[in-house]
Amino acid sequence: MSDDNTIAILDYGSQYSQVIARRVREAHVYCELFPWNAPVEQIMALKPKGFILTGGPNSVYSPDAPTLPAYVLDSGLPVLGICYGMQLLTLHFGGIVAPGTEREYGAADVVIDSVNPLFQIGHQKVWMSHGDRLEQLPPDFVTLGHSANSPYAFIRHQQKPYFGVQFHPEVNHTENGRAFLHAFVQEVCQASPTWTAQSIIEQAVERIREQVGSAKILSAVSGGVDSSVATALVHRAVGSQLSAIFVDTGMLRHNERQLVETAFRQNMGIDLFVEDGEEAFLTLLRGVTEPEAKRRVIGETFIRLFEYHARTLDNPEFLVQGTIYPDVVESAAPDRQQAARIKSHHNVGGLPKDMQFKLVEPLRYLFKDEVRAVGEALGLPPELVWRQPFPGPGLAVRCLGEITKQRLDVLRAADHIFTSALAEHGLMKNKTEDGVAQAFAVLLPVKSVGVMGDERTYEEVLALRAVQTDDFMTADWVDLPHDFLAMVANRIVNTVRGINRVVYDITSKPPGTIEWE
Ligand code: XMP
Repeated sequence: MSDDNTIAILDYGSQYSQVIARRVREAHVYCELFPWNAPVEQIMALKPKGFILTGGPNSVYSPDAPTLPAYVLDSGLPVLGICYGMQLLTLHFGGIVAPGTEREYGAADVVIDSVNPLFQIGHQKVWMSHGDRLEQLPPDFVTLGHSANSPYAFIRHQQKPYFGVQFHPEVNHTENGRAFLHAFVQEVCQASPTWTAQSIIEQAVERIREQVGSAKILSAVSGGVDSSVATALVHRAVGSQLSAIFVDTGMLRHNERQLVETAFRQNMGIDLFVEDGEEAFLTLLRGVTEPEAKRRVIGETFIRLFEYHARTLDNPEFLVQGTIYPDVVESAAPDRQQAARIKSHHNVGGLPKDMQFKLVEPLRYLFKDEVRAVGEALGLPPELVWRQPFPGPGLAVRCLGEITKQRLDVLRAADHIFTSALAEHGLMKNKTEDGVAQAFAVLLPVKSVGVMGDERTYEEVLALRAVQTDDFMTADWVDLPHDFLAMVANRIVNTVRGINRVVYDITSKPPGTIEWE
């Protein structure tokens, strides 16, 4: 994707590289993240209007340190070097980088004392995270800002549009960091804010039409945001060439099937085929309690149903996948493979080898927030667009022990009470930036004694889980208000038969995972 108004970001391995890309996109400017040594043709094909060099874990003087490719400065385009990126830039012009006397990590106060297009004069709260630092400024550069620990915290070339920062403008803790990056792309690079939901849709539609021609396409909708938006986009592009299937496994959340059916049939006018798989899934899962075995049974059952449908549809040539940009970035960079692997075990079981589908991946270059904006612009309802992540195997991973219809119904009812109370109280992330990113109930195969009225009860335990996270790779448990938890626990025990005790999970990830399984 490209609209001739783009920024190329060269990735030197910073933990914040994707955050930089998200900040640029928030300024409605398209950008792509490339490994620092990606082929020049690939990068220049994007016709960038400027470069951002990310931070990274290396020292510029170490023997195999990543370097600044010559074409970056040869292009004459603006460059912003962040941390390691700034050190590379200044090294090129004759600056001296040296190990800092102490590592600087955390909040710092930078004094800006020269007028510049990126930061206002005065004190700026920034986020530092570096060992090495610039010790001597190259002759052509001037200092725009300094901190107690970094005499050259913000610098620029005297004639050319080259800027460097020792701090991290992309991180939330840098108070005016967003505005800083937006000013770099829009004012210094002169990239226009053309990257909007509408322009994303137009480009995607054009590309999908070009790719598939008049061939048939199949899409398996999971009820999650990505597969829904991908399907809606493909439908916008090719209409009835698309067949969409949704499998009701019997392990969906409260009202989920109705929500998906209404969204697709009524809102989008897509002829969604709903396969009623509850009986098949529950029969095959009978007696299965080990989590990996559950996943295997569910994966195989999906595949069988899917195969059957593909055959009845005359074997479509293309399959829609909701791959999004972070997945693409993770698998492109070898040092990020670890993260990619953690996710792969989440796939419900893969597709049959003999189904030689070609993939249509209309969200391949989009971040999650862009996927949501596109979903809204396509007319998908907010309840679907803002849905929490939900594992492919569904409630099976939250119904510990044996899965039965009765236990699933108990879990579903309790989960609905908890999640709707969170929404009603404005505690979810779509209401506040630091709200709950994911929350759900888990039914435990443990019975304990209680008393209700005058009667002794012996029922199962329900755990509540609510986490805060940006990437779902690490997460913190949320310290929900105690009176809120008390109200939810009360409501669950009083209205859901089969639960007489509610506990709250206070484990972060790591060492825990988000799901219990
Ligand atoms: P864990 O439990 O590994 O989960 O901390 C991290 C995130 O991934 C979600 N998850 C899945 N998503 N298919 C998915 O698409 C799956 O099988 C799956 N299992 C876990 C989980 O809900 C959390 O958001």
